[in-house]
Amino acid sequence: MSAPTDPVPLLPLADLPEGRGRFVCRAGYDLALFRFGDTVYAIDDACPHAGASLSGSRVEGRRVICRAHGLKFGLEPSPPDAPPTLQPRRHCVRTVDGIVTLFPEA
Ligand code: FES
Repeated sequence: MSAPTDPVPLLPLADLPEGRGRFVCRAGYDLALFRFGDTVYAIDDACPHAGASLSGSRVEGRRVICRAHGLKFGLEPSPPDAPPTLQPRRHCVRTVDGIVTLFPEA
């Protein structure tokens, strides 16, 4: 299945727990979503180290701590001059009419 290029509605914002991860599988994406107020972050659910689920991992502030081996991943994008590190792929999501929506990158 090829990845969609149109926006993909995921779930109502109200269905996301505050400050914890939730796994969502839609349109070929396995996502870990994290909500802080009206801000939602989406990353691949698979840890880039060895594939553990990140949606079920512990959250401290706006960092996810992988439950398998403890690597920490910031949910905010890194500054452009930061050295490259192992990071899960980020996805663009916005809330549209109360629905968290994925905007796939072309
Ligand atoms: S699988 Fe996540 S730190 Fe190893």
